Amino acid sequence: MYVLGIETSCDETAVAVLEGGRRVLASVVYSQAKLHEKYGGVVPEIASRDHLRKLPYVLDEALERSQIDLNEIDLIGVTQGPGLVGALLIGFSMAKGLAYGLDVPLLGVNHLEGHLFAHHIEQGEEAPPPFVALLVSGGHTLLIHVRDWGDYELLGETRDDAAGEAFDKVGKLLGLGYPAGAAIDRLARAGDPGAIELPRPMLDGDDFSFSGLKTAVVYYLRDHPDARRADLAASFQEAVVDVLVTKTLRAVEAARTDRIVVVGGVAANSRLRERFQMECEVQGYEVCFPSIELCTDNAAMIAAAAHFHYTHSPSPPSPEDGFTLSPQPGMRGI
Ligand code: KG4
Ligand code: ZN
Repeated sequence: MYVLGIETSCDETAVAVLEGGRRVLASVVYSQAKLHEKYGGVVPEIASRDHLRKLPYVLDEALERSQIDLNEIDLIGVTQGPGLVGALLIGFSMAKGLAYGLDVPLLGVNHLEGHLFAHHIEQGEEAPPPFVALLVSGGHTLLIHVRDWGDYELLGETRDDAAGEAFDKVGKLLGLGYPAGAAIDRLARAGDPGAIELPRPMLDGDDFSFSGLKTAVVYYLRDHPDARRADLAASFQEAVVDVLVTKTLRAVEAARTDRIVVVGGVAANSRLRERFQMECEVQGYEVCFPSIELCTDNAAMIAAAAHFHYTHSPSPPSPEDGFTLSPQPGMRGI
């Protein structure tokens, strides 16, 4: 079965072709980051218009790389939400038109569940549920108990900024452009993570909060305009990593499982990976990270989630359903 995935929820225009649920034949991601950089964040109207412009080319490129003809596609999965409504509409309209034209079923996928399926693609067989997933991206910070694929329990989420958003805002203060997560990661390697004392917000509760940490950096820079940027980047990153690692370890213990899966754009962070590896080795837990290309937004994860729901649903959608999306937005329990 060939599955076409389409993802346009934020500022990446992405199309992928999978064979079955795990074999990625092509995954093309066009990032709009350059377009939004001067605004210091994603401008929804610009994002929608650029998706409209680029999506047909990204689709062509994905088909060409996969060596699959459009007529061979058996199922289409598209990000249904959450995301920017105008941006989602572009992907959804394309998916609906293709499904109608090809006479194949269409499935809507929850973007957050899509991130979980990045793990399913690469290690899902070797490291199956149950596990605790830390989903850390530009828009979300969630701890999820994945009891099984399709069966989730939300353990905690951010009350304000997402972890990636905090990276991006602090990066802006440090003049690192947008998005700034990877740039902070690089700069931090030259800094001392213990140089500047910063708060570890909500270390004890179930939820996360990162806006206070960002404000602490604002005040620190105001009072120490000559502070070493690398030390500030390293200290900030360490504070975020401390909170994420501590709370995830606590959650995995409470959930009585011994596996952690970290997904989303911030899972690309090298210090986060290193700290998880270290702590899990000590505590005897297994930790899995998808490869970087599957951590950040992509359509392979959307196609994988669509394939799972299509093959596991007692009544999978058919073209006769009129190309309405499946009733499930994907995340039972969330
Ligand atoms: O999952 P993603 O591509 O998009 C959303 O769904 O939000 O995540 C993007 C986020 C951005 O905030 C970006 O700064 C962050 O992931 N990010 C990183 C790193 N690479 C990307 N944050 C920290 N360290 C990194 N190496
Ligand atoms: Zn995402």
